[in-house]
Amino acid sequence: MSNTAPHILYGLPPRDLVAIPAGAQQCSPLMLGSIRLANIPPMSAQSAVMLAPPNTMERRYFLARALAALAVGAPLTALAPKDKGGSRIAAELEAFGCTVVDTSRAHHRIVSTTRPTTLHGIAEAIAAGDLQQHSTHGLWTQAGVFSWDRIDAGSALLLNHLPTFSGRGADFGAGIGVLSKAVLQSPTVTELTLIDIDRRAIMAAEKNIPDARAKFLWADVRTSDIPLRELDFIVMNPPFHDAGTEDKTLGQTFITRAAAMLETGGALWCVANRHLPYETLLEKLFSRTSLVTEADGFKIFHAEK
Ligand SMILES: C[S@@+](CC[C@H](N)C(=O)[O-])C[C@H]1O[C@@H](n2cnc3c(N)ncnc32)[C@H](O)[C@@H]1O
Repeated sequence: MSNTAPHILYGLPPRDLVAIPAGAQQCSPLMLGSIRLANIPPMSAQSAVMLAPPNTMERRYFLARALAALAVGAPLTALAPKDKGGSRIAAELEAFGCTVVDTSRAHHRIVSTTRPTTLHGIAEAIAAGDLQQHSTHGLWTQAGVFSWDRIDAGSALLLNHLPTFSGRGADFGAGIGVLSKAVLQSPTVTELTLIDIDRRAIMAAEKNIPDARAKFLWADVRTSDIPLRELDFIVMNPPFHDAGTEDKTLGQTFITRAAAMLETGGALWCVANRHLPYETLLEKLFSRTSLVTEADGFKIFHAEK
């Protein structure tokens, strides 16, 4: 194993629970600038530390990818809160052929192993959790991406109310491109930028929307360096969870960024869960705001800059 072989880091494991080698390379698709585990040559990495994701198919996919990337004998530590998949990691690694040491600390299960010579079921776990065209909606998607195997009910409601757009627009938190696909049905849309913080969503959206008018941006909508100004319209179903915890300020920041990127008269179309407090901010930042509909626990806003 060469000294330049990577140390794998996945997510942000609590530093008081596990040591992270200096220079470890971030591989989570939710961390901007991260590398893809799939691109690390097989049996090359020196070590792996992973805050394992809660979704079972997604977790097994990344555990399998990490094991495939590790050199034989290289250490892997995977941990997660007990109630967010942590209690399943040991059995999952054992099923891949690993011998594990399973400990408990600060509500986490911390599972250590080394990469065995022979692995079992890796190709199957990777195929199940990989980018794939899903039979329920026919779109490209991946386990772990928002609402990966069904159209979200809020997005479905918004789809029923979107007008025919024209000009340049954006889809904030575009996911696999459900809203964008509908927006691009209009021949008078000249450009649409899909922005998402999840690299997997952007990769799926690129496959779902083979349209030269679509631009794809793996980026954080909250940052001010997104090079979009004077847009004619923005559509969004903004997130309201950050790392599994409800965060109302996320959607509010999306609305603030939308106001900054629209031209005067530009339109924002937004769906939100009924309990989310967006009205006051919309009224402050937009010249006109209307509640288009409320149904099934969601509300749809149309706001004009
Ligand atoms: C409620 S989902 C909507 C997805 C898609 N528009 C749909 O209708 O199915 C919100 C999306 O925002 C993305 N997201 C979360 N935080 C973000 C951020 N700070 N910047 C950009 N996208 C973000 C998530 O990855 C997720 O795909």
